[in-house]
Amino acid sequence: MSEHTRSRPAGEDSPSSAPAEASASSPNFSRRTFLKSVGVTPVVAAAIAPDAAEAQGATVVGPEAAPLTLTINGQKRTVTVEPRTTLLDAMRQQLELTGAKRVCDRGSCGACTVTIDKRTAYACSVLAVDAEGADIRTIEGLTQGTVLHPVQQAIFEKDGTMCGFCTPGFVMSTVALLDKTPNPTAAQAKKALDGNICRCGTYVRLLEAALSVKGGARG
Ligand code: FES
Ligand code: FES
Repeated sequence: MSEHTRSRPAGEDSPSSAPAEASASSPNFSRRTFLKSVGVTPVVAAAIAPDAAEAQGATVVGPEAAPLTLTINGQKRTVTVEPRTTLLDAMRQQLELTGAKRVCDRGSCGACTVTIDKRTAYACSVLAVDAEGADIRTIEGLTQGTVLHPVQQAIFEKDGTMCGFCTPGFVMSTVALLDKTPNPTAAQAKKALDGNICRCGTYVRLLEAALSVKGGARG
């Protein structure tokens, strides 16, 4: 899936479980190479090499919890987290934003999908510190009062939920698709949703829902 990054559900840019230079079986694997692989750049975990980082002018945070401001659904929200805390944990444990679900917690199911700067991302695979300054959107930001977002309404009308654990992730992936491609083909919709897993098997109805809102009003 060309528009997606490491933190994005499945597709051709799915996160590899073992970066070439830092596989768990490699004798060169270390905490340092792992942290480098997940993109700790402007803000550096002190556990890596605080002296070296400070010498390069980087802001050193951690390993203790430190305040962090996230922009979620247009609002500035402050959390106090360790550098290792994921965006999903920060949202669920400190901000009572529990719409994004923790199912696999390892970047493979899509239940925790949010959008970051309009691109889908697995919140369980993004460090909260790396999301600072970005425009984060969650399922909680879609409804307007009691009025459902058109994608939510379409899934409801198509009877596209069973247990519902996967639903927020599918909604966010569909919203991201329609933001970028207002009139997707079935193939484009399938590809956009291929990083989300539904264990109850509601794929056909979810796809119908995604296609039914194409060209329609979207929030
Ligand atoms: S991909 Fe994040 S919980 Fe499964
Ligand atoms: S509705 Fe149960 S996992 Fe999708």
